[in-house]
Amino acid sequence: MTAVHFPPSTAFHYRNGILHCDDVPLTDLADEGGPTWVYSARVVDQAYAAVDQAMSFAPHLIAYAVKANGNLAILARLAKAGAGADIVSEGELRRALRAGVPADRIVWSGVGKRDRELRVAAGAGLRAIHIECIEELDLLERFGSPDAPVRVALRINPDVDSGSHPYLSTGLHSTKFGLEVAVARSLLPRLVQSRTLRLEGVACHVGSQLDSPVPLREATRLLALFARECLDAGAPLRSIDPGGGWPMSYGAEETPFPPHQAFGAAIAAGIADAGMSDAGLEVVTEPGRALVGDAGILLVRVLAEKHQGGRRFVIVDGAMTELVRPALYGAHHAVMPVREHLGEWSAADVVGPVCESGDFLARGRPLPAVKRGDLLAIRGAGAYGREMSSTYNGRPAAREILVDGKKTRMVRRRGTISSLWALEEP
Ligand code: LLP
Repeated sequence: MTAVHFPPSTAFHYRNGILHCDDVPLTDLADEGGPTWVYSARVVDQAYAAVDQAMSFAPHLIAYAVKANGNLAILARLAKAGAGADIVSEGELRRALRAGVPADRIVWSGVGKRDRELRVAAGAGLRAIHIECIEELDLLERFGSPDAPVRVALRINPDVDSGSHPYLSTGLHSTKFGLEVAVARSLLPRLVQSRTLRLEGVACHVGSQLDSPVPLREATRLLALFARECLDAGAPLRSIDPGGGWPMSYGAEETPFPPHQAFGAAIAAGIADAGMSDAGLEVVTEPGRALVGDAGILLVRVLAEKHQGGRRFVIVDGAMTELVRPALYGAHHAVMPVREHLGEWSAADVVGPVCESGDFLARGRPLPAVKRGDLLAIRGAGAYGREMSSTYNGRPAAREILVDGKKTRMVRRRGTISSLWALEEP
């Protein structure tokens, strides 16, 4: 097997035989303390600009899905560019506010919200709280006041198949998300008459890593038809929010996904299909991975190589505790040696130190000869990497570095060993 040529990445490329993030060699960013996340600020900026351009057909808000990567430096960068936030908990709300996202650019979408969370959300002046069950409507109606009605949106479940991994599909009736349209419709008279709630939006989210814009177009069409019903019922509707799902590349040697432009166009087409282009609605979109995923890698160090049972195992210091996506979804992340290697390559499983056979970062993937101490970069790790990390097996959180051209900044220190039991009592 000869050397693999990885699809070009805007941030990660070889220069003088060393993989760089923009102008910085990754060899400068590794330490002996464990794996490191590396993000390119420039790629985040570029991704935001591309989504913004794709949405230019209408007045819009890009409410970045904080769950993809809530690092304060990344959030602050996106907020400065004009982004809002899509949040799912009080923790994410406080994080977004702390990073400087204005409350009136924050939407709260989530299938279960505690009393306290609803009270906090109602008092925070958010752009919209997405109602996903009757219980939320009852409580929010109590928490609002006629002087300061709570701005809400109805999240519907459009029963559209996103075509993505079953765990990442959220728009089918068989999932727990949103309200069936008939149920949402039945709430309209109450919402329109409420003196403490203001129905300003409709929302949905069909799923993540959409490999085609078609389901997004169909979901947007159904959502826009429901928006029409809300307006006809007398709601002061202001926005339509078909969720996130815009895909990213993962540096994979697979078919490239459609460009961002196609997903903006799908939303525009869905609104037009419903005859709602002239309804004057603002469009909210909630991309997560598309803004940060390809901007990040997980930098890991080789600990050992062994051959057994007919397989080649490359054991590294990063694991499912940092990047659980391969173990959880069988997700593909390209693996690149940090020192360019033009000789022979052979298939390897890249595995971590965690005591589970499911602890792998890649399986049967071409890799050159490696030895203890060599560095590897796991691509497409900027989204749902650090956020889904755990300290399983006594592994403190990895550190995070933001690269901005030639400059680097540690935007999260490594977790300490004592932090592992800091909240416990012996
Ligand atoms: N809006 C809502 C209401 C969502 O639930 C999500 C993701 C998004 C927006 C952003 O989706 P994105 O644009 O990033 O695809 N852990 C999984 C992803 C779960 C996504 C859950 N919701 C993964 O690693 O792929």
